[in-house]
Amino acid sequence: MNAVMSTDENREIRSRVCADLEGTVVEIGFGSGLNVPFYPEGVHTVHAVEPLARSMDIAAGRIEASHVEVLHTGLSGERIDLADASADAVLSTWTLCSIPDVDTALGEIRRILKPGSALHFVEHGISPDSKVARRQGRIEPLNKALFGGCHLTRDIPAIITSAGFAIESMTTYQHAKEPKAFGWTFEGHASA
Ligand SMILES: C[S@@+](CC[C@H](N)C(=O)[O-])C[C@H]1O[C@@H](n2cnc3c(N)ncnc32)[C@H](O)[C@@H]1O
Repeated sequence: MNAVMSTDENREIRSRVCADLEGTVVEIGFGSGLNVPFYPEGVHTVHAVEPLARSMDIAAGRIEASHVEVLHTGLSGERIDLADASADAVLSTWTLCSIPDVDTALGEIRRILKPGSALHFVEHGISPDSKVARRQGRIEPLNKALFGGCHLTRDIPAIITSAGFAIESMTTYQHAKEPKAFGWTFEGHASA
């Protein structure tokens, strides 16, 4: 996953999604720390929420090289061990597809964000092309089995708004290097 997710295209996307982060940030599905080089100067602490110890091990060199203090704060987006209204921003890159109970996780994200602060996200999900969407539905069970529970058919904006967020900005596009079933992308900011 570390290799697959560290393409030039993804680096460009990461730099956009991480721009404007500041203060105390919670990164959900921290993975192998591929966003760490893109944390802006104004970020001083990142709480990494990540279930896989192996991913945190791979991230160690990136964390070491960063100006940011990264704390491994929890294992599950569904239960974040932080106080209400304690985060200046939450970052999620290609993670809402993989969290089993994504509604509960978004409730937790909203709880820990300071009022008016934002979830910065880039996610993939259900295609607006009905033919592609049907294919996504067919291959989703195998995809979940092969790639850590990754869903292909999640309606990301609907899931975010039904958790009570207001989407402040969002672009949708086909990822340049991904097949259609995997690359329909939602990138933006949603305020708590
Ligand atoms: C496709 S990877 C993306 C990793 C990273 N965000 C990136 O951009 O490279 C999905 C991540 O979600 C994590 N994940 C899976 N279930 C999770 C959960 N319940 N809570 C938080 N993260 C979870 C996985 O361990 C993995 O690191």
